[in-house]
Amino acid sequence: MNLRRADAPPGLVAEGDQVVDLDDQLAALTALRDEGLIGALGLSHVSADQLRHALPAGIVCVQNAYSLVDRSSEAVLDLCREHDVAWVPYFPLGGAFPGQTHVTSLPAVQQVAARLGATPSQVGLAWVLARSPRAMVIPGTRSVGHLEENVAAGSVSLSAEDLATLDA
Ligand SMILES: NC(=O)c1ccc[n+]([C@@H]2O[C@H](COP(=O)([O-])OP(=O)(O)OC[C@H]3O[C@@H](n4cnc5c(N)ncnc54)[C@H](OP(=O)(O)O)[C@@H]3O)[C@@H](O)[C@H]2O)c1
Repeated sequence: MNLRRADAPPGLVAEGDQVVDLDDQLAALTALRDEGLIGALGLSHVSADQLRHALPAGIVCVQNAYSLVDRSSEAVLDLCREHDVAWVPYFPLGGAFPGQTHVTSLPAVQQVAARLGATPSQVGLAWVLARSPRAMVIPGTRSVGHLEENVAAGSVSLSAEDLATLDA
């Protein structure tokens, strides 16, 4: 089960009596886990400080926004790597809301995709997978064709040259 914090946008931001201390939430959720009512505990939309604070509760995965167009959670990802926590980012392609920049629009992504004979979405997802040995991707789609393409991204291997192009 993922605890999604509501400290900051996007989405609802907790106000007034909706604001609940992280320690209180962790206490309630670890009690449910200890009773066997939930299998394991993950966090979503958290800062590195919050994750560090929560790690002793036994956090197994983190779901923050992360992609080639949003690397604001690098410090959270570093902590996940260090503590062998699974990295399951949301918006791995940049999201679907109006105004969000899609990973496929980046010239570097298109360049690497052409070099590999892959699609730009596959390159964007392969990049996320390359960022941690415990990374998983959860791209959203309304299309079976895109779903099949995204599943096949697991077979796209990025070279050091590809990664350098994407990181430039
Ligand atoms: N924890 C949280 O707070 C949180 C917040 C937001 C989202 N999420 C979760 O994160 C997951 C992903 O979020 P998301 O769907 O909003 O963002 P996303 O996966 O980054 O982007 C989805 C967008 O990419 C397009 N797309 C997908 N595959 C494509 C492909 N192969 N080629 C071209 N375009 C492609 C989709 O269009 P088509 O439909 O046309 O394919 C859609 O517009 C979802 O499971 C969502 O529930 C979690």
